[in-house]
Amino acid sequence: MNDATGRTSDAGTGGPVLVTGAAGFIGSHTCRALLLRGCRVLALDNFDPFYSRARKQANIDGVTRGLSASQHALLTFAELDINDAPALGSFLDAHGPSSVIHLAAKANPRLSVQHAAAYMHANVTGTSALLHELGLRGVDRIVIASSSSVYGNLPTAPFSEEMDASAPISPYAASKRACELLGYAHHHLTGANVAMLRFFTVFGPGQRPDLGVSLFLERISTGQIIKLFGDGTMARDCTYVDDAVSGVLAAHDRIDRFGFRVWNLGNSRPVTVNEMIATCARVVGKAAKLEPAPLQAGDVQLTFADLTRARAELGYEPVTRFEPGVERQWAWAQGLG
Ligand SMILES: NC(=O)c1ccc[n+]([C@@H]2O[C@H](COP(=O)([O-])OP(=O)(O)OC[C@H]3O[C@@H](n4cnc5c(N)ncnc54)[C@H](O)[C@@H]3O)[C@@H](O)[C@H]2O)c1
Repeated sequence: MNDATGRTSDAGTGGPVLVTGAAGFIGSHTCRALLLRGCRVLALDNFDPFYSRARKQANIDGVTRGLSASQHALLTFAELDINDAPALGSFLDAHGPSSVIHLAAKANPRLSVQHAAAYMHANVTGTSALLHELGLRGVDRIVIASSSSVYGNLPTAPFSEEMDASAPISPYAASKRACELLGYAHHHLTGANVAMLRFFTVFGPGQRPDLGVSLFLERISTGQIIKLFGDGTMARDCTYVDDAVSGVLAAHDRIDRFGFRVWNLGNSRPVTVNEMIATCARVVGKAAKLEPAPLQAGDVQLTFADLTRARAELGYEPVTRFEPGVERQWAWAQGLG
């Protein structure tokens, strides 16, 4: 089946696309985008309790909302932990995916400082376990979520993929860098094509509840105090979810031209925390109540993507500016989007 660009929607692979972390924020948007292309999707998630099961179930329910019965039929979902090798192996054998978009992880750098072992188990052991099972079955098109946090507090910005990523400042960031190294080793050992995607603060409808825009919209609209960590000059390269997902699909389609490749998927327009709060207040139509708080361990000062490589090699071009994206997220949060 061909997508709108004329590329083969299964990227020449024939079988379904496995999406891990499918009940999560980026995962659910990715599943929907694949269904809209006419791809068969094998979706899994273990409903990690990091945030509510109800939210994740709503994400999965939203994947097929408004789609035709035939598009709906392309989706198979299973509640499954990537660290459960027998269950994962049976699932893979039953459905025979020919490519994988691996988004399952425990996210949030700040929380990882207190729960490092759990982050390593989900992110590093989990990725290793998944790669092992994929290797046994010869799955050779693999896209894996990394993070802008691997750049740590580099002194020079924007951050390009060639820059040093050996000084992560949180266990989460270290776990994502470890996944990149595991991805390379897997490529070397098996010849599989492996793409590593460094996401930069993704936002939009369905955003994780622990992330800035979600928190700010919720607290401003309900009159709660927002803790302002530091002086608000910390900045994040906020990337609208549809833009990020377009990069995920392009990486999935093109990784076989590269073998192994790391790509930034950002917006290349950092927004300070002060600007984020002001924008959220404008969109909600209420003032924000701020309370000063010390900077938090594990938080980097800036994320800022250099998109030269992603533009040239993936045709990646983010199109959604911050404020219109926040407006869409707010409409969704009110049940209107
Ligand atoms: N959202 C961002 O801004 C951002 C930025 C950088 C990197 N990332 C990465 O992108 C990916 C998706 O992020 P997200 O924001 O959608 O997070 P999310 O928490 O919404 O989604 C991750 C999903 O993975 C699932 N999961 C966790 N451990 C699992 C396991 N052992 N087995 C199966 N499923 C498991 C969770 O239940 C969750 O639904 C993650 O790998 C994250 O580290 C996200």
